[in-house]
Amino acid sequence: MIEELDRIVVKSVIYTSGERDPRVPVPRPPDQGKFYMMGHDSRLPRMPDKPTLCDFFRYRFGPSNHVMQSARLAQKSGANEKVVLACLLHDISVAGFIRGDHGYWGAQLVEPYVDAEVSWAIRYHQALRFFPDESVGYRYPESYIKLFGPDYKPEPYIERDYQYAREHKWYMTSRLITVNDLYAFDPAMQVQLEEFTDIVGRNFKQPKEGLGFDASPSAHMWRTMMWPTKYL
Ligand SMILES: [Fe+2]
Ligand SMILES: [Fe+2]
Repeated sequence: MIEELDRIVVKSVIYTSGERDPRVPVPRPPDQGKFYMMGHDSRLPRMPDKPTLCDFFRYRFGPSNHVMQSARLAQKSGANEKVVLACLLHDISVAGFIRGDHGYWGAQLVEPYVDAEVSWAIRYHQALRFFPDESVGYRYPESYIKLFGPDYKPEPYIERDYQYAREHKWYMTSRLITVNDLYAFDPAMQVQLEEFTDIVGRNFKQPKEGLGFDASPSAHMWRTMMWPTKYL
């Protein structure tokens, strides 16, 4: 552990781009005879050897009230388990990975482990959030006016993906994420992940090797969340 504490941590460009000019190489601290971080960062809670989705919720996703409240709302409205799971997972990229294009990243993270309809819904909720659907009483969120300003217009790729999703047979699954997506959520209302143990158990194919070690197309992304400061 002492040896781990001593390792030199170099952040990936994506963590510092903006604060730093990405055209300039990241300054490498002199090694002073120390080794570089090549695994677990001792400042972070250690993940079990075979981490499950729940372990990521517990140790990497921070308080996940937002997604858990969305999932509970979906469940209360009588939505099916795919929708509830999609709500539970829809913003995990914001919580634990990358904010920008979080719908696409989030879908890719879970794609190998869920029904294709669930990851599809997660991918497109990001675009659908910006477009109303009167048929289900979904309006452009007030909070987006506050967050992005009254003149914000989504980029053309978002508009294009919305147009595509609108005509798709799984449109309503994705739309239901946006319907149950809460923005003015109540911080006093606590939801426990255990509430969804059965739904996750039935609908999320937990790899026996642990998330990150199963050689799936997104395993490396889970490893990056586990070891975000690994040097290479
Ligand atoms: Fe989202
Ligand atoms: Fe959300």
